[in-house]
Amino acid sequence: MKILMVTAEAVPYAKTGGLADSVASLARELQKGGDDVRLLLPLYRGMDELHRKNMYPLPHPLAIHLGREHWARVHELIEPSGLRVYFLEYQRYFDRARIYDDHDEGNGRRCAFADNPERFALLCRAALDLPGLTGWVPDIFHCHDWMAGLVPVFLETRDRNGPLRHSASVLTVHNLAHQGYADRSILAFAGLPSDLFRADRLEACGGVNFLKGGLYFANKLTTVSPTYAEEIRSAEFGCGLQDVLNFRGGDLLGIMNGIDGTSWDPASDPLIPHHYSRDRMEGKALCKKDFFHNHFPTSDIGSPLFVAISRLYAQKGLDVLADVLPKIFASMDVRVAILGAGDRNLEIKFCQLAAQYADRIHVTIGYDEGLAHRLEAAGDFFLMPSRFEPCGLNQLYSLRYGTLPIVRSTGGLRDSVLSYDERTGSGTGFVFHDLGNRALYDTIGWACHCYHNRPDHMDIMVRRAMEQDFGWTRSAARYRECYRWALESKGA
Ligand code: ADP
Ligand code: GLC
Repeated sequence: MKILMVTAEAVPYAKTGGLADSVASLARELQKGGDDVRLLLPLYRGMDELHRKNMYPLPHPLAIHLGREHWARVHELIEPSGLRVYFLEYQRYFDRARIYDDHDEGNGRRCAFADNPERFALLCRAALDLPGLTGWVPDIFHCHDWMAGLVPVFLETRDRNGPLRHSASVLTVHNLAHQGYADRSILAFAGLPSDLFRADRLEACGGVNFLKGGLYFANKLTTVSPTYAEEIRSAEFGCGLQDVLNFRGGDLLGIMNGIDGTSWDPASDPLIPHHYSRDRMEGKALCKKDFFHNHFPTSDIGSPLFVAISRLYAQKGLDVLADVLPKIFASMDVRVAILGAGDRNLEIKFCQLAAQYADRIHVTIGYDEGLAHRLEAAGDFFLMPSRFEPCGLNQLYSLRYGTLPIVRSTGGLRDSVLSYDERTGSGTGFVFHDLGNRALYDTIGWACHCYHNRPDHMDIMVRRAMEQDFGWTRSAARYRECYRWALESKGA
């Protein structure tokens, strides 16, 4: 099958979160299985020179047919695996330091670019105009999140009878909280008919909602875990789109993300100081020892280490952790390491905790791939008390690294972590339900209790966690099935 992934992010080229990991590793897995997969993403300013050196511009510029014609350059990069990546160069929109927003270093505030709708409408239209330039017509346009939400809209309206009439679209929702709102004038900008401005099409709250449009028009819909696929049909998790999700419920699948087992393998990870595997666990203890040596030099290595690596936004529930930490430090002998960036107030709160409890908590504000790997390897437990979590990758990395996840029972966390049962020692982590200070405090206490009093259970759980298979093979097969259904429903 010929599949074009349309995305704003993909590793190693551009990343703000798990979307980039998920799209890229799915694409590579499908390609490995024999499909002809290509990626289309914008060429951002920050892309490092290494990638730029390996890109070649296509010989002709691309005419992008929005309300008026825009001209762009497309660069192609062929990865060693054969995967082709197209980078859309349109400087006015994408030659910026950050992907979605301005970041004021002074006050730490982020402000979404006002022209985000125009920027990503251009990306969407480019996806449909690209086949005219390359001669390569995708069977499937696989669209990721709101940034690609207009692709199915174009495909089923303006491109309905053209050369793409046999192509189908699949829209994957990685996070329903981001929907892409625009003024109604975006329809004229995009060259889309004004009669799409209806509550049962693209209109929402008096504006245009890109994701809603995609949800209406895509041939099949997926999201990144079975539980989240259920949750988003309710008012609690539907972010206002539960009606359209119920309307399209028969076409909605929950397919769990996999992880890239090459970059995230404790037996060969070049970013961690000591390697280990289920049968040779000494390396994990040495990783912890190194971390303590560097950051908690006076602490007893016997204290459990709880780690968290995350965007610091309400979704992730780490504000609750910040609230309970003083109480935890007062009653439990634990060490905590946090790596993250996001909400300025939360960043400040964690920094204050680090100043107050320097021998108990180590905080790094920022984005640091190497430290993320070292923390996964050094930790005993991984904290992920998310309010909602479409899939979550860090709990999957943690399982692989034998760092038992402590998670709230929601979305992909619920689908991937089995709670500890103290009678039998079964489970792969610690699961709690209410997102309140009390529940998180109790669950951390529960994990400490197990760590100190049931080393036999800890040992079995760590090994069991490391045995879990969250590779892409199964999930990629489900996407293939979904593509076939999309083509069938298109009548191709
Ligand atoms: P989300 O996409 O909602 O942020 P995921 O768990 O799906 O959550 O993915 C987060 C990804 O971003 C993971 O690959 C994680 O390791 C990475 N990540 C998040 N914050 C940081 C950080 N501060 N430093 C390094 N990696 C980070
Ligand atoms: C989103 C979600 C996260 C998911 C990731 C990749 O960023 O917040 O839960 O793992 O996308 O699908």
